[in-house]
Amino acid sequence: EKGGFDHFMLKEIYEQPKAIQDTLAGRIKEDKVDLSNEISLSKEDVQQIERIHFVACGTAYHAGLVGKYVFEKLTRIPVEVDVASEYRYREPIINERTLFIAVSQSGETADTLAALREAKQRGAKVLAITNVVGSSVAREADDVIITWAGPEIAVASTKAYTSQLIAIYLLGIYFAQQLEAKNVGELKEVVAQLQKLSEKAELLLQPEQVSIVANFAREIAKHQNLFFIGRGLDYAVALEGSLKLKEISYIHSEAYAAGELKHGTLALIEENIPVLAIATQKALYEKTVSNIQEVKARGAYVLGVTITGDTELNKSVDEVIHIPKTLDLLAPVLTVIPLQLFAYYACVERGYDVDKPRNLAKSVTVE
Ligand code: F6R
Repeated sequence: EKGGFDHFMLKEIYEQPKAIQDTLAGRIKEDKVDLSNEISLSKEDVQQIERIHFVACGTAYHAGLVGKYVFEKLTRIPVEVDVASEYRYREPIINERTLFIAVSQSGETADTLAALREAKQRGAKVLAITNVVGSSVAREADDVIITWAGPEIAVASTKAYTSQLIAIYLLGIYFAQQLEAKNVGELKEVVAQLQKLSEKAELLLQPEQVSIVANFAREIAKHQNLFFIGRGLDYAVALEGSLKLKEISYIHSEAYAAGELKHGTLALIEENIPVLAIATQKALYEKTVSNIQEVKARGAYVLGVTITGDTELNKSVDEVIHIPKTLDLLAPVLTVIPLQLFAYYACVERGYDVDKPRNLAKSVTVE
């Protein structure tokens, strides 16, 4: 049942190229995204949207954080992202011009479902991104985009996250097409690059790449604390990498916006503390590198993640992982893969139960 893998989590990490492919399948026609068979929102409806609320928990919330960048960049519609258990209690501003997007692998998370009901009751249009056809979230939403990741068994979510990102890109591009807000050529380029992600994800699962990550993970498994740093979309991915590591290896870690370290946290960077530094975003590269130098100067042991072809980062870090070249906007789908592997190997090294971490359930049906 684990298809030759030691654990479901590892199997599911390796299933990501297929999950990406399957989530794209049938949704791109002649360099355009076509969701018209799945989504009832008309062009006029899309043009009416004033604000978007992404609401979700855990890993799905982290997908929503990427969603904020994607939608704001492609559609210029303001986006807020909330943890579902907080959403209702802050009296969010919701009206008929609000699009509420629930992201949920299982479609049964009680907090997400409660937030969805609240938004719907207050007049929002409700869309669900979920992996389970016929789940509660899918049934109660006005529109549904299914992530075709297939069943996810490991408690730690991996292929569901990358498929959620793909669904978010598809929807963002689809809306941008309707709004005519972006240059057509630019959108076509995003579509073209989106179709190459599956193959590129495959490259990150090659043995040489995996062994760099596994070796770093074995080294780090002795530590009690570590940091993930990045800016922009790299920060969103850092949060997911940190969650994954905490969830299964029980190593405490914190994800920090790299530019924020110097506002207090730098005091925790001491000799030999491991730092996973992500620098895939071109526009933020120089600034991120200077933040990496700040931690290096304090003795941190740094694994850098950057784009293939980069010859600079290795001068500032101890080890480097290269992500195949893609658009900055799409990098999270690739960047997260070594971070998932990192959490996996750290957990294996520590001898914990990878697929069933302590005190966690696959689907959380209490609020
Ligand atoms: C983390 C993880 C959880 C879930 C969260 C939401 O690896 O699995 O954080 O992402 O409980 O679950 P869904 O997506 O089913 O609503």
